[in-house]
Amino acid sequence: MLPNYHESLDYFFCLDCKKKIIIRSNNGYGHGICGCYRYPLVDNILILKKRPDTEETARLISEGKFEHAKLLQTEVSFSLYHRILNKLTKQDIGLLNHIMYRFIIQQRKKRMKILEKLMTEKKIYTLFSALEAGKWGEYCIFRFVSESFIIGKHILQCLSPNIKIKKQGIILDHLCGAGHYSFILSNIFKNCRVISTDQSFLNLFITKNFFNKNGIFLCIDGNNKLPIKEKIIDLFWSSDAFHYLIKDRQRYLVEDYSRVLGENGVLVQAHLHIKGGKNVGEGNSHTLSEYETIFSNIPSCSYNEQEIMTKLFQNYRVDGDAIILIGTKNKEELETIKKKITKSIGKRKPAISNSFLYQNPLINLFDDSGNKKFYHDRLFENKKNSGEWI
Ligand SMILES: C[S@@+](CC[C@H](N)C(=O)[O-])C[C@H]1O[C@@H](n2cnc3c(N)ncnc32)[C@H](O)[C@@H]1O
Repeated sequence: MLPNYHESLDYFFCLDCKKKIIIRSNNGYGHGICGCYRYPLVDNILILKKRPDTEETARLISEGKFEHAKLLQTEVSFSLYHRILNKLTKQDIGLLNHIMYRFIIQQRKKRMKILEKLMTEKKIYTLFSALEAGKWGEYCIFRFVSESFIIGKHILQCLSPNIKIKKQGIILDHLCGAGHYSFILSNIFKNCRVISTDQSFLNLFITKNFFNKNGIFLCIDGNNKLPIKEKIIDLFWSSDAFHYLIKDRQRYLVEDYSRVLGENGVLVQAHLHIKGGKNVGEGNSHTLSEYETIFSNIPSCSYNEQEIMTKLFQNYRVDGDAIILIGTKNKEELETIKKKITKSIGKRKPAISNSFLYQNPLINLFDDSGNKKFYHDRLFENKKNSGEWI
């Protein structure tokens, strides 16, 4: 039996007072109490960011206004929301509320609609279109068949039989986005608990409802240390995200990743952008040797995504330039894993394309034939000559 949600939360602590966070909740709503703060638990998503809107959410929950609390956490525009809210003080929010009362009512109505969609929508395509999340929505719709995901999933399939993960182990999908990898991880490691983290409540809400039903969800700022007890993570997975963290903090954050990693734990940083590699949204990316320095306290090896793709599909050119970095605390273990992975790369063709779309249980979430065709055409746009895809 997996530990239940509340037992698992014994693993989390407050970054300021360092005390364990104790959850008091009713039907997924409540508070996480430490020695200095009241972190709100909103629909089983624990908000661990100390901000004025977090305090307001905690207050609404204590008054039993659960739907209001959820609405307050629901972002309308993903990126803009974070950029603005991160900068506001409590007084600013009060003033803003006063000046923009009508606007805020409108926004609330919009958020309500978003949440209603989230509760009822079964099809990923329609869901993300309805969220009007722009490029982010498109990223989420196509994520399962995007190049970097196909490569990351392949590496995960090569890695998973070769790593020691204990029963009821703990897996972290750090900066999980809408949870596509949380889905894969929770399916591969069925006896484990997958913790999904992100800064966005809405992303975590999607992850929880669609992709990681038995997971644990932490809404955090990834530029801070992890609020997680040391040495408890068996597999630390993160994809397409590290390069978005603050440059000056990256090295310090890696030290913290090493702190939470178990003795036999494995760390994977998938799709790390290489500096100048023409990746979409380059972020604070680095050269390979700079990454080696940043990750130097965790023995690691890296694989170039183009090389993996070439092994999988001859003559295929990936857009951009990125690597997958794999690390463990134990150097010998790293050598063993490296040998096994290197041997298996390219051996097993990933089940993508039509067969992926039709066999995957998530197919129910995609739209019917019209959109499947659209989806399919996008994927095959530049790959018409590669017979291996179908
Ligand atoms: C490009 S997405 C990758 C999502 C997912 N890992 C995947 O591969 O599909 C980057 C994610 O990192 C999250 N993120 C970026 N900066 C963050 C921060 N400072 N704290 C928490 N999450 C952050 C974003 O919200 C977004 O969901």
